[in-house]
Amino acid sequence: MTSLWLDRAPISGATLFIPGSEFDTVVVGAGITGLSTALLLARSGQRVAVVEARTVGAGTTGNTTAKLSLLQGTVLSGLRTRHPLSLVDAYVQANREGQTWLLDFLEQNRVPFQRRDAYVFSVTDRGTREVEAELRAAQDADLSVVEAMATELPFPVRAAIRLDDQAQFDPLDVLEAMTRDFLAHGGTLLEGVRVHGIAESHPLTLQTSAGRLRADHAVLATGIPFLDRGGYYGRLISSQSYAAALRLPTTAPVPQGMYLSAESPGRSLRSVPTDDAELLLVGGNGHLAGQEPSPRERLDGLLDWGLHHFPGAEVTHTWSGQDYRSADRLPYIGPMLLGGGRIFVATGFNKWGMSNGVAAGLALNAEIVSGTPEWAEELRSRPTTSPGLRSAFALNTSVLASWAKDWVTSRMTAPEDARHVVPREGHGLVARQGAVPEAVSTVDGLTCRLSAVCTHRGGIVRWNDAELSWDCLLHGSRFGPGGQVLQGPATRDLEVESLSSGTGPHEPEG
Ligand SMILES: Cc1cc2nc3c(=O)[nH]c(=O)nc-3n(C[C@H](O)[C@H](O)[C@H](O)COP(=O)(O)OP(=O)(O)OC[C@H]3O[C@@H](n4cnc5c(N)ncnc54)[C@H](O)[C@@H]3O)c2cc1C
Ligand code: FES
Repeated sequence: MTSLWLDRAPISGATLFIPGSEFDTVVVGAGITGLSTALLLARSGQRVAVVEARTVGAGTTGNTTAKLSLLQGTVLSGLRTRHPLSLVDAYVQANREGQTWLLDFLEQNRVPFQRRDAYVFSVTDRGTREVEAELRAAQDADLSVVEAMATELPFPVRAAIRLDDQAQFDPLDVLEAMTRDFLAHGGTLLEGVRVHGIAESHPLTLQTSAGRLRADHAVLATGIPFLDRGGYYGRLISSQSYAAALRLPTTAPVPQGMYLSAESPGRSLRSVPTDDAELLLVGGNGHLAGQEPSPRERLDGLLDWGLHHFPGAEVTHTWSGQDYRSADRLPYIGPMLLGGGRIFVATGFNKWGMSNGVAAGLALNAEIVSGTPEWAEELRSRPTTSPGLRSAFALNTSVLASWAKDWVTSRMTAPEDARHVVPREGHGLVARQGAVPEAVSTVDGLTCRLSAVCTHRGGIVRWNDAELSWDCLLHGSRFGPGGQVLQGPATRDLEVESLSSGTGPHEPEG
């Protein structure tokens, strides 16, 4: 599946990797967080490299729905039940600064964007209570959110609230402009290079798939951090959700607001102007990453919903993306715990990284070059024990239980001899090769047998029948059918046992 945004020529500007190069700061990851951080540091006069394992935007930023809004579903009421108002205010301030900076940047660089009103709506009694709570939380945080009608939507809505004059854009247009600005300020972009580790020498030594780099500071703008320190894996939850672009019949109007439902399953809508037609983007149906038996069914459920409410629509693109939520629902932006003060992280944007990611860029640039903004200090000084952490512990316990079950299941019930299993085209399953679980899939006629043991911390991967990938439920690492790391904290590919052209089907029943 390829997102609407990534269905275009790649962004150019990457240069050759020169082992041993030295920089003031190396930013790892070329999504909105990494590129905004890098270009601000480069503008501040630093020698900066961005090191990206894949290509610019290949991570969550290329698979987002790209609404830039301070009304963010039920985020504020969720924060208000967990934190004092001062922390909610700091969160809103961070997002306001991220949004303001980004809109100025887009205007200055003539990047197209559309001003749109943002809505949160409900279709159930429970959702209505959540909408009301969000209205109260937003007003407490001095946002001009008002009760509204959602008359554009082709289904009955119980309640809705609105914040005027928010924005939406194509995230790859934004990354392209950021890359141009970064390069114009002397930045170095390295693509196809994965960072495996960072040694805390003076300067830092970054071990990468292409050799070593040295830097005074490193910023991990990689979604979840890949360095195994600071306890982030116990405090972050990864979730996967789905999106589709629909071309409506010419007589059907495309809703112009940016909508998000208060209740689950989440339903998100926005318009997308293109050269030949205005498309409708629908999103939602999220779940914890790696935990869904059939992601394809989740995607199909979203498409059924979209086609039911917009009959006659043609689906032009489908995709999914993964983002991270912290246990207490606030992002982590600043020096990495146990990172020696020279390694920084930016994560936990809870599906609102368009403003949070840029806010992180502003905070990290200030932190490295001059001093920390007040809102970043406030967010950072929050207590580390909270009801959120207890629920994260409960969640991680259940994830670990699933992990243990996967190990046992793969040992007890998987077919005895993985060598004879040939899944049907587009299918994958975990089989057993002796005592070792093997991940076997057939994609484009090629049957790949891989170790099913995640290279991060030993989870057992599961087949994702929507993305045709192997996903680990422990911390959200994802691997292609040939074993290559796609996403998450893993830095090494799944070990390849064998490759052959599929001669199946010999897939076991059940
Ligand atoms: C379906 C969906 C819809 C969303 N909708 C919205 C929305 O409407 N509005 C909003 O504000 N937010 C939204 N979000 C959230 C938002 O998209 C993310 O928070 C944001 O894109 C995160 O950006 P990032 O730069 O931090 O991470 P990414 O874009 O994931 O960038 C991280 C980069 O790091 C690279 N990388 C990882 N590990 C390494 C390594 N070891 N070495 C080198 N490179 C590495 C990856 O390849 C990747 O390119 C949505 C998310 C999803 C999943
Ligand atoms: S992602 Fe951590 S063990 Fe797989």
